[in-house]
Amino acid sequence: MLVLLVIACCFFLAAHAQQQNHPAAGGSTASASCVPHERDALLAFKHGVTSDPDGLLNSWRPDGGHGELDCCRWRGVLCSNQTGHVQKLRLRGTGRKTLVGQISPSLLALEHLDHLDLSNNDLEGPNGRLPEFLGSLKSLKYLDLSGIQFRGSVPPQLGNLSELQHLDLSNYGGINSTDLSWLTRLPSIQYLNLDGVNLSTVVHWPHVMSMIPSLRALHLSGCSLASANQSLKHLNLTKLEELDASRNSFNHPVAIQPAGSGT
Ligand SMILES: *[C@@H]1O[C@H](CO)[C@@H](O)[C@H](O)[C@H]1NC(C)=O
Ligand SMILES: *[C@@H]1O[C@H](CO)[C@@H](O)[C@H](O)[C@H]1NC(C)=O
Ligand SMILES: *[C@@H]1O[C@H](CO)[C@@H](O)[C@H](O)[C@H]1NC(C)=O
Ligand SMILES: *[C@@H]1O[C@H](CO)[C@@H](O)[C@H](O)[C@H]1NC(C)=O
Ligand SMILES: *[C@@H]1O[C@H](CO)[C@@H](O)[C@H](O)[C@H]1NC(C)=O
Ligand SMILES: *[C@@H]1O[C@H](CO)[C@@H](O)[C@H](O)[C@H]1NC(C)=O
Repeated sequence: MLVLLVIACCFFLAAHAQQQNHPAAGGSTASASCVPHERDALLAFKHGVTSDPDGLLNSWRPDGGHGELDCCRWRGVLCSNQTGHVQKLRLRGTGRKTLVGQISPSLLALEHLDHLDLSNNDLEGPNGRLPEFLGSLKSLKYLDLSGIQFRGSVPPQLGNLSELQHLDLSNYGGINSTDLSWLTRLPSIQYLNLDGVNLSTVVHWPHVMSMIPSLRALHLSGCSLASANQSLKHLNLTKLEELDASRNSFNHPVAIQPAGSGT
């Protein structure tokens, strides 16, 4: 009798343990965790970071040991709760050497990335150029590279980001653009910040801006814009709510006509 009771007890305990295990196993598949090749891409990105004194990427580790195997739980990484694909990278720095190094092209493996914020980090890399490959992150809706001290020209490849709604390249590091026509290939852009980008050779900027009627906010402070003569009359951006063209030395008074005023 006692033996039977012990055996029954064992069965009960075993069944109970199985029941407890089950929801856990089911749970980890349902809350779609990190895609392995995307985790590899993030680790390769981390490899491009040579210094991280604040430990922003401390949770980014390859193993399940001290780190977290599920890259969707890493700091600054947000995944789709449906598919588990990495959707957002929020790695804004504090502006005093948070992340130092370069932006790795491994990000191209994150095909579903729609939000990339690397602002206020020292990620300009050894050649200091804004990487052309960022123009191939096709799903991007939000790109913030402000405060990264790039030099040289803004690559027109950014015009390939046809989904882009928010672009911040504000920068006082010596970056310039001689031709803004790539902006006209961004039909959904609402927020554009080019503060500090040297646009001294761009003459027809109001014309270009007028070809992006989706614009709600336009920041062109300290861009060495030489002239806004007459052309601002054609800045008929009907959705514009915010315009900052301060700290440019226009050689004439600037008047902006309200859209549709007919003059
Ligand atoms: C999944 O994310 C969407 C928004 O992206 C949210 O509305 C929804 O509640 C989330 N579902 C779960 C189960 O967290
Ligand atoms: C743009 O920047 C690059 C590198 O700093 C420089 O060589 C080039 O002359 C600049 N172009 C203009 C128009 O300022
Ligand atoms: C991206 O843009 C560049 C320059 O604007 C263009 O030459 C190139 O073909 C584009 N690439 C893709 C994949 O669309
Ligand atoms: C912008 O570029 C022009 C032409 O290269 C240069 O003369 C000017 O000094 C630059 N402006 C600033 C603020 O660096
Ligand atoms: C500004 O407009 C006036 C009158 O239309 C013209 O005489 C002048 O040359 C223009 N200046 C520049 C820098 O385009
Ligand atoms: C802006 O004005 C120009 C003429 O000045 C016109 O050709 C163009 O269609 C207008 N664009 C929008 C979006 O209203």
